[in-house]
Formats: sequence, structure tokens, C-alpha cells
Amino acid sequence: MNDRPDPSARTRLIAPATRRGGGRRPVSPPVERASTLLNDDPAAMRDEGHGPVYGIEDLSAARGLRAALADLEGAADAWLVPSGLAAVTVPLTALLRPGDEMLTTDALYGPTRRFLNRHLKPRGVAASFHDPGAAVADILAALTDRTRLLLIESPASLTFELADVPAIAAACRERGVLTVMDNTWAAGLAFRPLAHGVDVSVQAVTKYIAGHSDLLMGSIAVSDPAVGRQISETIEDLGWRVSPDDAWLALRGLRTLPLRYAEQARSSLVVAEWLQTRPEVARVIHPALPGAPGHDLWRRDYTGAASIFGVVMNGGSEAAAHALMSALELFGLGYSWGGFESLITHETGQLAFRRATPALQGELLRLHVGLEDPADLIADLETGLAAWRDAIR
Ligand SMILES: Cc1ncc(COP(=O)(O)O)c(C=O)c1O
Repeated sequence: MNDRPDPSARTRLIAPATRRGGGRRPVSPPVERASTLLNDDPAAMRDEGHGPVYGIEDLSAARGLRAALADLEGAADAWLVPSGLAAVTVPLTALLRPGDEMLTTDALYGPTRRFLNRHLKPRGVAASFHDPGAAVADILAALTDRTRLLLIESPASLTFELADVPAIAAACRERGVLTVMDNTWAAGLAFRPLAHGVDVSVQAVTKYIAGHSDLLMGSIAVSDPAVGRQISETIEDLGWRVSPDDAWLALRGLRTLPLRYAEQARSSLVVAEWLQTRPEVARVIHPALPGAPGHDLWRRDYTGAASIFGVVMNGGSEAAAHALMSALELFGLGYSWGGFESLITHETGQLAFRRATPALQGELLRLHVGLEDPADLIADLETGLAAWRDAIR
């Protein structure tokens, strides 16, 4: 398995902390909590040469985080917004006008889909959805004269289908269609959308970058300054910024991202491969597992994998899924992923919103593997599967 992050990324995420210049200082930037910033004289008040004039602009930690994310993404610039969801909704708000159409996968993250239906649609932007496993030619055939933007989420939510991003991005660019990619799964590390021709790379910093399940944030990275201007003006117009404490925590998380990401990927494969051998389990959907949908694309394009995957059970019921989950002691019952802790969810709601609900052999569980010892996680799952068997007996 080719799961090693680009070695230079590990160094590049740390090097700015020890860079010379600026005199004696702490390794980490200070947390500057401010709305008001004071000046020595009236003439200096509007002078941006002295730094930000008001707290809505980025202070030290946010500036450091933005620079590190731009470097990680290979971007001209990167912006911070208050959630991963906002990282998707801002580019759509910035780049689409009434009368435009957009295309995306039917396996889109649920709240993003809700934004398309509840916010964009009444404002004259129509979204259509392609099959999550569609061939590139079929995706391109679904573009119309009015399609302005293609939103890629790869791997897609819950069923983890991969898209052929380089081919899709190149074809869209030829047709003047902008591409935005939700790259949360790769954390900006295992896949770099901008290097593959995508216009806007977004991710939920909330997940692997923050890494400790204690903050919400999103990032938006671009290589074209003209696209960047539309995005930064939209963030400014909406009045969004992130708190200095959150920016500081995310920057701290970023320093250890490559190590956590690689270790969690390794553990997740140990757990996923074990689950594959279990009679209670019909199918494990992990892009880094041979045979998973999109595994060949993953091998070709990715340098690592996330530690979140789907487990399709052999039949069962909601009660059996709940029995399994209740018996677990190490897997927390909670949404989200990318933190240091293992989590499990039972997926029912989001699949129902799809245009075509996938036919699964049984109940769908989603596992996120954290930094615990995978042998202990497997022992925990053994207990869960025993409870599952009792429940379906
Ligand atoms: C693929 C994907 N994108 C975006 C988000 C949204 O992130 P946040 O929870 O920070 O809004 C999530 C959250 O689960 C996600 O799974």
C-alpha cells in the first residue's frame, strides 16, 4: 500500500515554526484575542502597513495557519471559514449566479446537499446529481450549456466512491466549467486537488487537521487570483472569521497531521481487513482496500488514506446495529471523524435523500479509527459482533 505522505510535507508543516528572523519569540504564535486594535496616533489608524486594523482581519495564529495551508495545498492563497460546511458553501455562493446550473455527485455530504436545495435553488441556481460511480464520459455528458460549476466530493460520503479528478478537472477546464473539490478525506495531504487541475480545494479543518475533535473550521484554497478574489470578497461580505483560539489549535494540529494521518490509515486497514473476514459483515468499503470501488484510482492518485470507512453488515436491523454499538467500549458514539479517537455511527438518514438509494446487503455502519491500538479496537469489535449475533438470533 502506498500510504506514506509526501515526506516533504512533514517538514514543510514544521519548518516555519523555527524560521529565523523576528528576534526571540515563542515557537508558537501568540493567541491574540481582539476586536479592537489600538494605534499610537490618528494617522496610523488606517495604515495597513502596521498590520490588521480591526479584529475581523486575521491575527497571528490565523495568518500562520493560512500560510501553512496554502503551502500544503500548493495554493496562491487559502482562507479560513467557521466550519467545513462553510468551506463548501462559500465558493458556491461566490461563483454561482441566478440562472447558472451546477452538477455534483448523488453521494454528496448531506448538509451540502441541503444547502443546494434549501439555499441555492430558491435563488435561481439549479443543481443536478450524477451517479457516484459514473464514468467520466457520463459525468461530462450531464453538463449543459448553463453548467457553471462541478462540485467534486471524492471519496464521496458514506459509500466512498472515488472520482477520476484529473480527467474531470481537465475536461471541465476545457469547457469553461469551474471545479470545486471537497478534499476533506485526503486532508490536503494524500491528494492535492490544485495540482490535478481543480480550481478550488476545500476541506473541513475540523477533521484531521484540527485532529482533536475540539473545534470547527474550514479552509478554501485556490491557485487563480481572480477566483480567489471572488471568494475572499464573499467571506468579507458575509462577515465570517474564525476565533484566534481555534486558529491556534488548528495550527498546532497541523504540525502533527502527517504522522497522525499515516498511523490512523495503517490502523484503519488492520481493522478493516479483520472485519472483511467476519461472517457478520457483507462488505467493507475502504478505498485503500483492494476491490473497493475506486481502489485503482486511489492507487494511481493518492499517497495515503483516511481512517474512515463503511461496513455493510449481512442483513440485520436497526436494533441489531444499536446492540452492536451499545456493546462497544472504545468506539465513541458520535458524528464527525479525523480526531484521535475511534467513533462509530449507524447510517440511515443520509442515504434516504439520494436520488438513487444504493442497494446494500444490510445495515450500514461507519467506523472512524483513531490512535488507539488496533488490536484493542478489534477486541472491542469482537464484543460488538457478539451482541449483534444475539440481537438477530
Ligand atoms: C466530506 C465532508 N465535508 C464537509 C464536512 C463539514 O465539516 P464541518 O463539520 O466542519 O462543517 C464534513 C463533516 O462531516 C464532511 O464529512
